[in-house]
Amino acid sequence: MSKIVVIIPTYNEASNISRMIDVLVNEEFPRIKNVEMHLLVVDDNSPDGTGDIVKKASLKHKNVHLLSGQKAGLGMAYVRGMKHAMHELKADATIEMDADFQHNPKYVADLVHAYSEGADYVIGSRYIPGGSIPKEWAWHRKAVSYWGNLFARVMLFLPSLHDTTTGFRLTRVKGVLDKIDLDHLMELHRFAFKVDLFYQSVKLAKKTVEVPIEFGTRKEETSKFSLKEMVATYKVVLLLRLRASEKLLKFAVVGFTGFLINLVLLRVFRSIGFVEVLAWFLSTELAIVNNFTFNNIWTFRDKKISGLGEIAKKFIEFNITSAGALLIQSVFGPLGVRLVGEKYDFLVLGFVVAFLVLPYNYFMYSRVIWRNKKK
Ligand code: GDD
Ligand code: MN
Repeated sequence: MSKIVVIIPTYNEASNISRMIDVLVNEEFPRIKNVEMHLLVVDDNSPDGTGDIVKKASLKHKNVHLLSGQKAGLGMAYVRGMKHAMHELKADATIEMDADFQHNPKYVADLVHAYSEGADYVIGSRYIPGGSIPKEWAWHRKAVSYWGNLFARVMLFLPSLHDTTTGFRLTRVKGVLDKIDLDHLMELHRFAFKVDLFYQSVKLAKKTVEVPIEFGTRKEETSKFSLKEMVATYKVVLLLRLRASEKLLKFAVVGFTGFLINLVLLRVFRSIGFVEVLAWFLSTELAIVNNFTFNNIWTFRDKKISGLGEIAKKFIEFNITSAGALLIQSVFGPLGVRLVGEKYDFLVLGFVVAFLVLPYNYFMYSRVIWRNKKK
């Protein structure tokens, strides 16, 4: 049976937390069949006594847990909670959720349902049909949320996902959460860390699903979200874009050297009398070897393949993958040359590489050859 841990960070939530525990443990968890549901409250020694309330509840219910610590920001609280859920509670998945009922506990069952159907990452989305942000919010509050979210979607090239900043999500541990270096997420003392966590999770998850949530208004106390939080969120999005683009840029540079090698060797082989198909085939293969080597020691340095066994295994994988590129070029190269003439072979090569081989290679390299290894 799967074990899912709902992680709720709290700071001065005494007026919400006992009702939240009650609703989750007595109403919502029992509705969820075939999954062992737990609640982990990560409290930062709230002066209003939130921790004491949770402590009492944890003595009564064995699936309620309290983790207390010094206040070091929302991200730090989640990192502590996620590590505890993974290593101590042996969770198969974790859920991020707020204590203040802006996240209606009834949606926990929806997140778990999507997970049971095979999703690795489930996003409680406010911006898909059925989801919403509070009607009561002032227009500028709505605008901040809407534009921040849109900005992240566009910058991170995630058009198919509609809510990049939601705080209500489920993450599978195996293959997703356990591969993320939680201690080095950006802006861990702020809410903005969520965007880094989100982006990495989306990249690792094989299947990401959005389920609609209606984001409620806060009943008690005031929100801890501020202008500083907003600026930090934009900063994280930009840094993530840069980091992702750095790889793409290096990949393009390596690709360009491969292109030059390909072109020069093509003409060399042709001049020594090789038939057209063989000239394309050989020059392409050698360019691929060049690209593999430099991508391994430079572009994907962080996931560098080393050790004899690993290299051998990856080399076989790489050759299978490359067969696709080889095939694409050996077919479309001669075809293009026949179309525009041998004189313009550089145009044909450029076209085939840029529009067919490069996208294919980048996908295969980042998803198959240099995919994330378990940390
Ligand atoms: N342990 C701990 N430490 N908990 C904290 C801290 C902290 O420093 N700061 C906030 N929390 C807890 C709150 O007690 C609450 O349970 C939850 O984190 C969210 O805090 P709110 O103050 O209610 O945040 P919000 O409603 O403005 O922010 C919402 O929108 C953000 C952006 O869309 C939340 O849904 C966030 O999760 C979301 O990132
Ligand atoms: Mn809130």
